[in-house]
Amino acid sequence: MQLRDKRILLTGAGGGIGRELAPLLLDAGARLCLTSRSDASAASMAHHVHTHRDRVLVVRADVTFAADRERLVERMRAEFGGIDILVNLAGALDFGLFADAQPAMIPRLLAVNLEAPMQLAHAVLPAMLSQGSGRIVNIGSIFGSIGYPGFASYSATKFALRGFSQALRRELHGSGVSVTYVAPRAVRTAFNPVELHLMAADGLMHMDDPLWVAEQIVRAIESGRPEVYLGQPESFFARLNALLPGMVDRGLRKVVPSIARFARGAA
Ligand SMILES: NC(=O)c1ccc[n+]([C@@H]2O[C@H](COP(=O)([O-])OP(=O)(O)OC[C@H]3O[C@@H](n4cnc5c(N)ncnc54)[C@H](OP(=O)(O)O)[C@@H]3O)[C@@H](O)[C@H]2O)c1
Repeated sequence: MQLRDKRILLTGAGGGIGRELAPLLLDAGARLCLTSRSDASAASMAHHVHTHRDRVLVVRADVTFAADRERLVERMRAEFGGIDILVNLAGALDFGLFADAQPAMIPRLLAVNLEAPMQLAHAVLPAMLSQGSGRIVNIGSIFGSIGYPGFASYSATKFALRGFSQALRRELHGSGVSVTYVAPRAVRTAFNPVELHLMAADGLMHMDDPLWVAEQIVRAIESGRPEVYLGQPESFFARLNALLPGMVDRGLRKVVPSIARFARGAA
């Protein structure tokens, strides 16, 4: 798929990955609706509007609010005449031991990481189906394939997002609308609390550069591959976990005490 003139709705555009992804999509010639929740991230996108006035729209929206999602879709229709690609990038994390977590975190993560992408996909699908083309791109995580200690709720939301992506892709076969699920491993952004950056510094996880991840997302959008996993050996472990979860259980047992130490620091 060529991105030139494609009308793209990108959530989470003001985040660490989104800030790298938006200019790449603009350089490829796309027309972009960038969503932001906070004033700070909206302000960080203002220069895109300045330099690509006719191709960029910044819309303030909390994707967990139905009225905001409706406004996003309506603005796409009004300003660009429709939508070709939805990129569900907005996301939230709660790193820590599940027993120590605040109960209110559970519905919050489900709303941002799962319900919002599903609702947005549902909102844009009628237009995509009637034009016979479109692409829904869901940004998951390697922890959507490996249930990881310290990430129980986050893993749950990303497993579900992966399942949704797979089922929808199969349901839409032959319609002209495709679904791509992209699973990065850890990325060096403010998404991760300081304890995770310390864990990475301790060699317990590898963190990718957000620009590299954004470049891989562009390639995934263009290629339309059904699932894209970023980074080795994590991609291999994701597949191993599906086939031989007991082996991954045994491997992870050794690192759980260290993860718990960092997770307690984050609580
Ligand atoms: N960073 C990682 O290690 C990593 C690894 C694997 C997968 N991912 C996935 O990649 C995606 C982006 O990660 P990132 O590192 O760029 O995160 P980030 O820097 O924390 O950015 C997250 C973005 O999501 C937006 N957002 C959060 N809640 C929202 C809501 N209710 N409504 C609207 N927007 C909301 C934030 O908006 P505001 O700035 O306006 O608050 C921000 O733009 C997430 O889906 C994440 O799960 C990240």
